[in-house]
Amino acid sequence: MSAFENPTIKVLHNHVSVREFSERPITVDERSAILEAARASSTSSFLQVVSIIRITDSVVRAKMAEYAGNQVQVLNAPEFWVFCADYHRDERVCGEADLGWTEQLLVGCTDSALMAQNTLTAAEALGMGGCFIGGIRTCISEVAELLKLPKNTFPVVGLTFGYPAVKNATKPRIPVGILCSENAYREPSDDELTDYDHTLCQYYTQRNPSQPLASWKHKLGSTLQRERRPFILEFLNKQGWALK
Ligand SMILES: Cc1cc2nc3c(=O)[nH]c(=O)nc-3n(C[C@H](O)[C@H](O)[C@H](O)COP(=O)(O)O)c2cc1C
Repeated sequence: MSAFENPTIKVLHNHVSVREFSERPITVDERSAILEAARASSTSSFLQVVSIIRITDSVVRAKMAEYAGNQVQVLNAPEFWVFCADYHRDERVCGEADLGWTEQLLVGCTDSALMAQNTLTAAEALGMGGCFIGGIRTCISEVAELLKLPKNTFPVVGLTFGYPAVKNATKPRIPVGILCSENAYREPSDDELTDYDHTLCQYYTQRNPSQPLASWKHKLGSTLQRERRPFILEFLNKQGWALK
C-alpha cells in the first residue's frame, strides 16, 4: 500500500477549512476523543503551557463572534474552542518562575498551535471540519477580559468545528519543490513562483467566478500591505509576555 493510502495521511492531505456546519450534533464520545487527542500533543520541555476554553454560553459566544470581526461561523459552529498560551498554571505550581522572556512567548504560541492542529486533525479524522479563528486577536484585550484570562496567559487562536454543510475544494499549497529545500535555504526561481501564481488564480477563479483572483501578489498584498494589529505588543507586555 502506498503511504498516500494511509488513512491518517489522507485526512491531512484532504484538509480544507470548513466555515458552514450541518445540524448533525457532535456526540459526547466524539468530543471527548477530540479533547484527548488535543491533550496528547507534544509540548516544549514538558511545560504543558496551553489551556483550552470551550465556549458554550450563547452570550459569550455572541461576544466572541463580534470580537472576531463578526464571523458568523463563530456564532453557528457546534463547537468553538479558544487555545490560550498559559504560564500562569506552571507559575502557580513552580512559584517564583522567571517569566516575561520572549522565548516563552514562542513556546506558548508553538504549544498552542500544535494543540489546536491536533484538535482539528482529530475532528477531521471523524469526518468533521473546522476553521482556525485568528480573528479573536483583533479585539485581544476584550477577549482576555471576557474569558477572565489571568496574567501570563493570552488567547492564541480559536477553532470552530462540527460536521460540514459546505466544503470547498482543497486549496493548492506551495509546491514541495519550493516549500522544501535540502541542507540550506534555496531561493525559488521566478518561473517556479509564476507557475504557482497561475495555479492559485485558477483555484480562486473556479471557487468564485464572480471574484477572480488577479494574482498571488494581490492575495498577499491584502494582508501584508497594511498594519497588523499594532496593539498586540502592548497587550502582551501588560499580560506579562515578551518583556525581555
Ligand atoms: C492561525 C490561523 C488563523 C486563522 N484565522 C482565520 C479566521 O479568523 N477566519 C477565517 O475564516 N479563517 C481563518 N483561518 C483559515 C485560513 O484562512 C485557511 O487555513 C487558509 O486560507 C488556507 O485554506 P484551507 O485551510 O481551506 O486550506 C486561519 C488559519 C490559521 C492557521
